[in-house]
Amino acid sequence: MAHIRLVDARNPDPHLIAETAAIIRAGGLVAFPTETVYGLGADGLNPAAVARIFEAKGRPFTDPLILHIADPQALPALVLEMPPLALELAHRFWPGPLTLVLPKRPVVPDIVTAGLPTVAVRMPAHPVALALIRAAQTPIAAPSANRFARTSPTTAQHVQDDLGDRIDLILDAGPTPIGVESTVLDLSRPVPTILRPGGLPREALEAVLGPVAIWTQMAEGPQPSPGLLPKHYAPQTPMILVVGPPPQMRAALRELVTRYAAQGHRIGLLIAEEDRAEMANLPVEIAVLGPEEDLETVARRLYEGLRKLDARGLSLIIARDFGAQGLGLAVRDRLMRAAGGSVITVGESDE
Ligand code: TXA
Ligand code: MG
Repeated sequence: MAHIRLVDARNPDPHLIAETAAIIRAGGLVAFPTETVYGLGADGLNPAAVARIFEAKGRPFTDPLILHIADPQALPALVLEMPPLALELAHRFWPGPLTLVLPKRPVVPDIVTAGLPTVAVRMPAHPVALALIRAAQTPIAAPSANRFARTSPTTAQHVQDDLGDRIDLILDAGPTPIGVESTVLDLSRPVPTILRPGGLPREALEAVLGPVAIWTQMAEGPQPSPGLLPKHYAPQTPMILVVGPPPQMRAALRELVTRYAAQGHRIGLLIAEEDRAEMANLPVEIAVLGPEEDLETVARRLYEGLRKLDARGLSLIIARDFGAQGLGLAVRDRLMRAAGGSVITVGESDE
């Protein structure tokens, strides 16, 4: 099992950070907290170290990684052009849950970008991550610290459960505050395009950029982001997502539980506080993500809720949607992928 070292989230111990940075510089792997989820870090300019990330996760080499920097000034050394838009977004939203995709410089190893001509870069808003990157004096390549296509980790224990036998060290600064991964914005296209909705809401980007495109599975042409497989962030347990206005969703949840329970299924429900009363007396395990309007809480608890139900030996998880406003869009994206596209839409659409 990996060593878990406790670290103060606000005020990380410089000695521990220096020790950890030395592992990165020596080509090793370290799991560390960011404001979104825990990352599995290696020296982003060392191809052999980056290769170890893919091996530990069981991640295909076709799925590119994000480089994490500790200062916006580190961006120009990694990308070919610095469009004024990139400067403005970095200024407004870094440090924070926004990843920018831009044409890469040759210094960025091909293994990081899966051979793509672009590189994804972000400056995380977590004192531990920032201190580690500074001490390592190199951009840190880091995917979420889970095994490939599984639920992302929001605690050190999640990382231990997934990767403990494959890595040496996990820095534990407690649960991550945002709980869903960064928003990935592609600036290498004619129109800025969200490749993955995440911790920075689309509305915040649009306040600066005007309307942005959102890449969807339905879009034509080649996949811009090979990592965005439809089945991703997934629990082991089969899952169904119910989308619609809350009253209709609740009715559908009851109906689905009744039907599947009659078939002998052991069912888990991933729901809002407001749903709980109507689910009373149903033969189910329940994980409550939060009040339906409190999307920060819902996002923060999402992966914990999925993991909790997944550990119960159930045969089916039924989740409800939380709309497409603010963080709701990222939550929906993760739930849809976790459900592998098994979505039931009821009532009128909310869009
Ligand atoms: O919040 C986050 O972004 C977390 C923390 C650790 O920073 N990291 C994370 O990394 O979620 P990962 O590897 O799990 O997801 C990175 C996503 C993938 O969907 C990948 O396909 C996409 O970013 N990506 C990376 N480089 C890209 C590129 N050059 N072009 C398009 N998409 C890219
Ligand atoms: Mg991931």
